[in-house]
Amino acid sequence: MIVKEGLEDVIACRSSISRVEIEDGKAILEYRGYNIHDLAKHSCYEEVAYLLLFGELPTKSELEAFKEELKDLRELPPQIIGLLTHLPPFTHPMVVLRTAVSYLGSMDKYIHYRSYEHSIEKAKSLIAKFPTIVAYYHRIRTGQNLVHPNDELDHAENFLYMLYGEEPSELEARCLDLDFILHADHELNASTFAARVAASTLADMYACIVAATGTLMGPLHGGAAQKVIEMFREIAVPWRAEEYVKEKLKRKERLMGFGHRVYKNVMDPRTIELKALAKMLAEQKDSKWFEIAEAVEQAAYKYKKLLPNVDFYSACIYATLGIPDDLFIPIFAIGRIAGWTAHIIEQYENNRLLRPRALYVGPKNRKYIPIEERG
Ligand code: CMC
Repeated sequence: MIVKEGLEDVIACRSSISRVEIEDGKAILEYRGYNIHDLAKHSCYEEVAYLLLFGELPTKSELEAFKEELKDLRELPPQIIGLLTHLPPFTHPMVVLRTAVSYLGSMDKYIHYRSYEHSIEKAKSLIAKFPTIVAYYHRIRTGQNLVHPNDELDHAENFLYMLYGEEPSELEARCLDLDFILHADHELNASTFAARVAASTLADMYACIVAATGTLMGPLHGGAAQKVIEMFREIAVPWRAEEYVKEKLKRKERLMGFGHRVYKNVMDPRTIELKALAKMLAEQKDSKWFEIAEAVEQAAYKYKKLLPNVDFYSACIYATLGIPDDLFIPIFAIGRIAGWTAHIIEQYENNRLLRPRALYVGPKNRKYIPIEERG
């Protein structure tokens, strides 16, 4: 048996959703064959969600119809709002999200239906409701009235509107929309893999998404974004970054927002987009977090040749937009839900149970000693 620790470089399934490859020393990321840089430049989140779910870019009328469908699905059932009001206000919003997804499952009479048509309906509902769950919970825990979804607004701007109670500027809405696009899918990352493992047992879609949200929260995955802002707050001013990074690496600690299982020694294409966005936001709004981020990036490269990943400049963007630290991971999830559901559907459509083996390394053939005789 050859053990691939961490399943590194193991090809676990076939997929036609995201292509992540290194070609001539450059990283390529495509959704359904479309380059992430083109999508970042020309697309919007709803179009990307459509592309991930259906495999093709929508026509103008298909996109309009899809947007309308999502708008109609945004509002939460009163039972879910009741759940959000009853959870302790210190509950992390990611825990809220996974709890609400499970509750939504309990309210779906067709929870166990896995046909393509049923799965697409569930996917649309989850994509539409994720922002509402996060925004409503934030309003509730901060003692503010709910701001209901606004049908005049697109996905990203409506999220910011529900969160803050006022319409965001064009720049703020575009930043978040772009951020959702860049987070929408990434091949077999840990949370998507968790979702596909659950799907491979033919578990219901809500169960798969609970697995994915739980996995995303870990600091080695999406949880890194929240750790990045905590690091920036500790550093506080750019000139402290170098010493901070040097000391952390000397103590053999992980620098959050750096390193990647696939993009080794090559820049994550999403980071390129996010850094440009963070820079633009810094120029137009406030440069405090961007200056710290750049100083950390330079030091991480100087002392360990580490490159920033998708969570690094996302954290800078969210902080500059004034988003509370513990909403960073849920925002990742609001983007990634499109990819998760697309992967679950793909797994259902061409399923084989995902069940690897372990190399047993514990003791063998031990003699059982009755409890009375144990010393
Ligand atoms: N800080 C310090 N050293 C690092 C880091 C880091 N962030 N990432 C990798 N390394 C070093 C590691 O110490 C090891 O060095 P050495 O050979 O000297 O011991 C080498 O790089 C290889 O590390 P590894 O743990 O074998 O690499 P991996 O592919 O298993 O780890 C990772 C990938 C993402 C878990 C890791 O880079 C990490 O812990 N990063 C910090 C957490 C983070 O930012 N996670 C977000 C990941 S990307 C987006 C997402 O999934 O959300």
